[in-house]
Amino acid sequence: MIPSSIIDDIRFRCEIENTISGYVQLRRAGRNLKGLCPFHSERTPSFTVYPENQSFYCFGCGVGGDVIHFVMRMENLDYISAVEYLADKAGIPLPSQNGEFERDTGVSRKRVLAMNVEAARYYRSCLLDERIGANGRAYFHERGLNSVIISRFGLGFAPVSGTLRHLKSLGFSETEIQAGYFCGKNERGYYDYFRGRVMFPIIDVSGNVIAFGGRVLDDSKPKYLNTSDTPAFKKSKNLFALNFAKKYCENGFILCEGYMDVIALHAAGFQNAIATLGTAITAEQARILKKYASKVIITYDSDEAGQKATARAMTLLEEAGLDAKVLKLTDAKDPDEYIKKFGADKFRQLMEGSRSKFDYLIEAVTEKYNLALDEEKIKAINEVCKAISQVYSNIERDIYIDKAAKIFGVDRKSLLGDVERLRRRAVKDDDKKRRADLIRSVSGSGDRINPDYVRQPKAAKLEEEILGMLFLHNELLHTALSGGKLTSEDFFTDLGKRLFIFFADAVENSGFSMGMLGETFTPDEVSRATRMLLNRSELPKNDEETFRIYAEQLRDEVKKAKSGLSIEDIIKQKRTQK
Ligand code: UTP
Ligand code: MN
Repeated sequence: MIPSSIIDDIRFRCEIENTISGYVQLRRAGRNLKGLCPFHSERTPSFTVYPENQSFYCFGCGVGGDVIHFVMRMENLDYISAVEYLADKAGIPLPSQNGEFERDTGVSRKRVLAMNVEAARYYRSCLLDERIGANGRAYFHERGLNSVIISRFGLGFAPVSGTLRHLKSLGFSETEIQAGYFCGKNERGYYDYFRGRVMFPIIDVSGNVIAFGGRVLDDSKPKYLNTSDTPAFKKSKNLFALNFAKKYCENGFILCEGYMDVIALHAAGFQNAIATLGTAITAEQARILKKYASKVIITYDSDEAGQKATARAMTLLEEAGLDAKVLKLTDAKDPDEYIKKFGADKFRQLMEGSRSKFDYLIEAVTEKYNLALDEEKIKAINEVCKAISQVYSNIERDIYIDKAAKIFGVDRKSLLGDVERLRRRAVKDDDKKRRADLIRSVSGSGDRINPDYVRQPKAAKLEEEILGMLFLHNELLHTALSGGKLTSEDFFTDLGKRLFIFFADAVENSGFSMGMLGETFTPDEVSRATRMLLNRSELPKNDEETFRIYAEQLRDEVKKAKSGLSIEDIIKQKRTQK
C-alpha cells in the first residue's frame, strides 16, 4: 500500500486546479471551478473542481475523485501508474520495493517500457543483419520504403525465433516477457509471438516505445499481429505516429486506417498522418487529437468497411469538438496505393477538395434514394434534416439549410421549421435520458455502484452522510470508535461497510487520504465516495453532535432492516417515498 504521506505530497505538489487545467478549460465559479467534462460529451459545464477539497466531480456523469483519480481516468492508467506518473512530474521519489510497487501482474509499466526499447533495438538490428534481415529488407524495398523512412519509424524485423531468448539474455523474466506481450505459454513452455514479421514500433507522445505491430511477409493470417493491452499500453488510448504528427498538425491531422498508409503519407511529406491501432477510432482517441488540433481529415480505405467506419469516425470526432472532413479516394484502395499510383501532388489536391460531413451526407443520400419519386425524396429530406439538426453551430446549420433547400428544390423556411422541431425534440430526449441515467446510477431503482442502496435507502443515505463526514474530518473516527459508537457491523450496504473498514484501517495505520481509495476501490466507487465527501463539505462544520445522531439513526435503521420489515412498515415506507 502506498503510504498516505506520499499521496498527500502528490496532492500538495500537483495541485488539482493546475493539473486539470492542463486538460480542461476551467472557469472560476465562486470558490470552485467549472468546465466541460472530459469524461462525457456535454455542452454546458457540469464538471466541477473543488480546490478546497482537492477534488473534482461531474454532475452530468457522476465521475469524481482527487488528482490521482483524474489522471487514472484521463491517461487511462492503473492506480500505481497514475501515482508514478504524478510523482515523476512533481519530482517526488517513490519508495522502492524491488524498484517498484508490486502490482497485479507483478510487472510494472517501467519494466515493460524498458523491455520494449530493447525489443525495438533488437528488431532493428535483425533487419539490418545481412542474413537474418534479408527477407524483411526485401519486403520493405518492394513496398517502396527507403532506409531514411525505415529508420525514422524505427522499423525492424522479428526473426522466426529469438525475441524471447534475446530478452531473457538481458535479464527479463519469462513472466515479464509474457506481460509485455512478446510471448505466450503452452504445454511445451514459452514461445515467441512475433515470428518472421516486419515490425512497426508504436511510440507514445513522450517518446516511449509502448507496443508493436508486426506484419507477415506473405498472405498468411493474421496479417498484422499487435501488442494487446499491457501494463504500458492501452490500444484505445494511443495512435500510430502521433509522436511525429503532433508537431505537424497546425492544419489538422490526416486519419487513416493502416500503418503502411501513415508511413507512405509521411514519406510523401504529409507528416500529420496518424492511424488507430487496428481498431475503430474511440472517443478517447478523438479527445487526444483535440488536444493538438482542431481539424481532422479522414481518409479510410475505399472499400465498404472503410466507408462505414468513416461515418462513425466523423460522428465521434465531431462529438469531441473536432472539425471532421472526408477525403474519398477513387481508383485506389487506400492512401498508400493512391500515392504510389498518382503521387503526392494529386493527393494534396484531393485534400483541398475534401468534403465536409454535410457534402458527404448529401452525396450518400442522393445516391441512396431516387429523388424523382416523392416518397423517396421525402425520406431523403428527412434524413438530411435530422443530420442538420445535430450540427451544433447555428451558422453551420444555416448554411446547410440553404444548400439543402437548393439541392432538393424546396422552401428554405419549411426546412428550417423541420430542423428546429427535430432539435427541440433531441434536447428534450437528451435531458430526459441524462436525468434518468443519473438517477439510476446515484439512487433509486437499480444503483449500479452501490446495489444495496435501494434495499434500504434511509440507512444507505445515513451511511453516506457518515462516511462523508469521516472523509472530511478523519479525527471523527475516534468519536465513532470510542465508546463503541460505530463499527463496520453497523453499515448496511456492502460498499459502505468496505469503505468504513478501509478508512478505519488507514487512519489507525498510515493515515487516510482520499487518494488511497484508488488502490482498492473501482473508479466508480471512488467517484461515489468523492460525492459523499463533497455533499458534506457544503455544510458548515465538523460537528460531533450531528455525527453521533447520524450514527445512532443508522444503527436503528440497520437493526430494523435486519429484523425484517412488517407489512405496515413497507406500506408506510412506500407512502413516504411518494
Ligand atoms: P489493412 O488490411 O487495410 O492493411 O488494415 P494495410 O494497412 O493496408 O496493410 P498493407 O498495406 O496490406 O500492408 C488496416 C490496419 O488494420 C490493422 C492494422 O493496423 C492495419 O494497418 N490490422 C489489419 C490489424 O491489426 N490486424 C490485421 O490482421 C489486419
Ligand atoms: Mn489498407
